[in-house]
Amino acid sequence: MSTLESILKETRSFPPSDEFRRKATVSGMEAYNTLCEEADDHYLSFWGDLAREMISWKKPFSRVFDDSNAPFFKWFDDGVLNVSHNCIDRHLPLNANKIALIFEADGGEVTRLTYAELYHRVCQFANGLKSLGIQKGDRVVIYMPMVVEAIVAMQACARIGAIHSVVFGGFSAGAVRDRIQDAGAVAVITANEGLRGGKTVPLKATVDEALALEGCDSVKNVIVYQRTNGGAHWVEGRDIWWHKLTEGQSEHCEPEWMNAEDPLFILYTSGSTGKPKGIQHSSAGYLLGAANSFRWVFDYKPNDVFWCTADVGWITGHSYVCYGPLANGATQVIFEGVPTYPDASRFWSMIEKHKVTTFYTAPTAIRSLIKLGADLPKQYDLSSLRLLGTVGEPINPEAWMWYYEVVGGGRCPIVDTWWQTETGSAMIAPLPGAVATKPGSCTLPLPGVIADIVDESGAPVEPGRGGFLVIKKPFPSLVRTIWGDADRFKKTYFPEEFNGQYYLAGDSANRDENGYFWIMGRIDDVLNVSGHRLGTMEIESALVANPLVAEAAVVGKPHDVKGEAVVAFVVLKGNRPEGDDAKKIATELKNWVAHEIGKIAQPDDIRFGENLPKTRSGKIMRRLLRSIAKGEEISQDVSTLENPHILSQLQQGV
Ligand code: WTA
Repeated sequence: MSTLESILKETRSFPPSDEFRRKATVSGMEAYNTLCEEADDHYLSFWGDLAREMISWKKPFSRVFDDSNAPFFKWFDDGVLNVSHNCIDRHLPLNANKIALIFEADGGEVTRLTYAELYHRVCQFANGLKSLGIQKGDRVVIYMPMVVEAIVAMQACARIGAIHSVVFGGFSAGAVRDRIQDAGAVAVITANEGLRGGKTVPLKATVDEALALEGCDSVKNVIVYQRTNGGAHWVEGRDIWWHKLTEGQSEHCEPEWMNAEDPLFILYTSGSTGKPKGIQHSSAGYLLGAANSFRWVFDYKPNDVFWCTADVGWITGHSYVCYGPLANGATQVIFEGVPTYPDASRFWSMIEKHKVTTFYTAPTAIRSLIKLGADLPKQYDLSSLRLLGTVGEPINPEAWMWYYEVVGGGRCPIVDTWWQTETGSAMIAPLPGAVATKPGSCTLPLPGVIADIVDESGAPVEPGRGGFLVIKKPFPSLVRTIWGDADRFKKTYFPEEFNGQYYLAGDSANRDENGYFWIMGRIDDVLNVSGHRLGTMEIESALVANPLVAEAAVVGKPHDVKGEAVVAFVVLKGNRPEGDDAKKIATELKNWVAHEIGKIAQPDDIRFGENLPKTRSGKIMRRLLRSIAKGEEISQDVSTLENPHILSQLQQGV
């Protein structure tokens, strides 16, 4: 609550400059309000018109929306298109020689790819996939470093109608296995090794480890892009080099013509229960959301050089690296490395070098770069920038102001974009030529997004009061279902409490008297660590899978760079360890979680107790654990606690 209070005391407001407003795609509040009214009054034709304007259709749709099987909504469903055709081919007549991708490698080498070159690469690789028998509807896992080939792989899947499931390159073998298994993937596309911050990442070895685990029999082929000189263990008949697969393949590949509602991809994300959910997106609705929000929120201009720093392993890298910018024919920077290598000025030097106009990154990156060199941006010429953006978590006003003044030189609007893996595209964010920004607020919904804040009964709350963030009408880029679990989809996102009518985002939020949205955080057991969603249950299951562990409870605690850090309370099967023993086991368990899920899920802090605090009915008192994790005085009523003596144990760090 204290962060919320401090945020709500924020009264600074930054309208766009006259110059920015004049040149903007959506120019001024009147234009924004007109669009919102259009959407309110003629919701379906509003989206139908946008779908005709933004998408190139092989066969036009005759029906905009179908809710006969709610909440499994359909959009434009008798329309036929191909997403890769929309991202690449349609730019060729006028812009074949326009740069699509400016790739900067970890070591600093720069490669540029035109739309024509991208087209040829995607087609060759698509033909290669087809030569392996991969077809429309097949699932393909992509486990790649942040290189051009990751985008080629995604686009090639889209081209042949295969459903990609990108797994972030930092996830472990266990996480790769779970995703392969859940989706029944027929192939994995990976690299021998990745390169990040001067170090190699053993991607192929991790895939090998995953495939050696039980339940991956569906995988027939592993395609390996050779990124480094490092070798790779080879399984004959299963593994094939990328360069061998594409050798001699035609540079043309007729797209597979898809129905609007055919799935484009699955992307797994954490939820309240142990198992990540496969968020399934459609072809046309998703593309429309990504393309149109890119145009509006980033006020896209043909001469822009756009740079979104997200990895393709996350939804941001799907919508604002792979699909949105390409669908608009934009030029964008792709970066393989990390912001701190070779030093903490990497972002700033790259903005200068590539004359980036639009820069989109995460609050956690901004906070860590402030720490490592708040004055570093001043050593670079950042005058090419005209717009900045953030995503992934609430940004604290101090970091916002630094971003605005030091990086943006006080002249660039900041678009704080609220959205989710499930929404597919930005939902609440300022249209920068219209909406005045306020540090820490994602401001107002995009036209066509009917967002509200409601109480348990679904009734809107007064301004200034917190509640559940909901979206009251389905929209084209909304998740279609959870792969293989329609029931969970319905229960999680369209709960009966709201008569199955509202999309429940899982965030709590607050609105000020100007209608601006302020996101407070998750309402479920999901943590937001460095802008990445992690389910507490997922980490608990990983801990309990360790032979030493009897029981575990995981909570978050505030962290000044990561936003939130993972704290685990652990009960061992043996005695409660102390001293060096405790240190040793804590390190072992941290490594275990990194190995089971990935480094991002690693607890910062592990506390051992003989037991966990439980009510007499056996429920773990999580609120109490959160207070303990923060080092707060315990103010909760502990009279119902079964075992009060363990509190002092859990307060002790290792
Ligand atoms: C949080 C990332 C505040 C939120 C695109 C949401 C934000 C979750 C913002 C989704 C923002 C995202 N301000 N909070 N601008 N953007 N979030 O699925 O809790 O990785 O529910 O999608 O991140 O995370 P996801």
